[in-house]
Amino acid sequence: MSGVFRLAIVDPQDNSREALKETLSDLDFVWLESECTRYELFAEIVTQTRPDVIIVALDADPDRALRLVEEMGDLVPTTSILVTSGTADSALILRALRVSAKEFLTCPIDVTELKNALNRIGHATNGASGEKSQRCVAVAVAGASGGVGATSLAVNLGCVLARDERNHVVLVDLDLVLGDMDIFLDSMPDYTLADVALNAARLDLPLLKQSLTRHGSGVYLLPRPLTIEDANILNEDGLRRVLSLLKASFTHVIIDISKGYTALDLAALESADEVFLVTQLDLPGLRNVVKLTRCLDQMDGLSDKLKIVANRVGRSDGQIGFKKAEETIGKQFFWKLPNDYRVMIEMRNNGVPLIERSPRAALTQEIVALAESMPGGSASARGVRTSLTSRWLSFWPSADRTDVGSTAEHF
Ligand SMILES: Nc1ncnc2c1ncn2[C@@H]1O[C@H](COP(=O)(O)OP(=O)(O)O)[C@@H](O)[C@H]1O
Ligand SMILES: [Mg+2]
Repeated sequence: MSGVFRLAIVDPQDNSREALKETLSDLDFVWLESECTRYELFAEIVTQTRPDVIIVALDADPDRALRLVEEMGDLVPTTSILVTSGTADSALILRALRVSAKEFLTCPIDVTELKNALNRIGHATNGASGEKSQRCVAVAVAGASGGVGATSLAVNLGCVLARDERNHVVLVDLDLVLGDMDIFLDSMPDYTLADVALNAARLDLPLLKQSLTRHGSGVYLLPRPLTIEDANILNEDGLRRVLSLLKASFTHVIIDISKGYTALDLAALESADEVFLVTQLDLPGLRNVVKLTRCLDQMDGLSDKLKIVANRVGRSDGQIGFKKAEETIGKQFFWKLPNDYRVMIEMRNNGVPLIERSPRAALTQEIVALAESMPGGSASARGVRTSLTSRWLSFWPSADRTDVGSTAEHF
């Protein structure tokens, strides 16, 4: 399970089915992949879509529904089954639990009870398998000012992660007006974020994948809308639904947010498990890091996931020294990426990711190490962080080259 439950429901009764869908829409960790109005068609749907959880409403025909539950137990033994009924009849509850239902919920379904039941199912599933299956990691890449290298990092990180065939990686271009992820990957997408948001309620996994552009590196791309008008189609709820669906379907969702820090950008930061804030070691960038961290720290849960990445380190044109920069922002950098203009501009102009075009460059190697430190990467974060120091000595000319004196007073 990937942190989001993919769900299928069957209920021939319209009222209770609609009520259940309404309740499910309040849960952002649930993706309703399919709904069915006939018991006899459900087995085929479940076999094709293999959801994490199925919900069978019993009341239209309890005997038929319980036979279906039994059948499901044999057909998809790893899928958890939840049953619902308007009667809390103990004999019915017992029969349901005997034929492999994991939970019994009484209608009208209370959202907290449903949430607790799904959480219990999630824990039991992860526990039973002995190891937790790889959940999705959503990373939002933000920039402390324009041109700091946020998109360059997002695209290349995604391509590096996609090299491992166990990973399914999607890039989302949330820079709705000026985004250029498609150019980085030299791709001409058929569908954009606006199309997917418009159809979010109807999309299932196969349709979603068809709407995404697959790059030769294996990474999928959900590009920005084609026109400025289309950018207005997207609202925060729509974006959350799209991100939920992507999280249910991919192991890594990498979101390139805009520099406007709009409501949509903030919604993406909230949905993300990790936030990389990219800056260069210059005064405007560092000042914005301080400003942004102060502001983002106020948002629930954000300070724990916010990681500052120093980009273009080692640039010769009067940057602030590394230690001084850390003192100035009052935090340690999580990662540092070397300056390599030639390699980066070639990558961008040719639309070929660093890992393909310049796999041995120090810059590429740092992005590889960053990817390896993430869930789904092959090395542990701690190991990579320790080894960074030695690797850095090779291209880092001086620990604190530029004396900027009273930098702190600019903040
Ligand atoms: N580590 C780096 N070394 C050299 N140039 C870089 C590096 N990272 C990014 N660049 C260059 O900086 C410019 C802006 O990068 P981009 O990723 O578009 O920034 P942003 O998305 O933050 O606006 C591009 O020309 C890119 O080639
Ligand atoms: Mg950008």
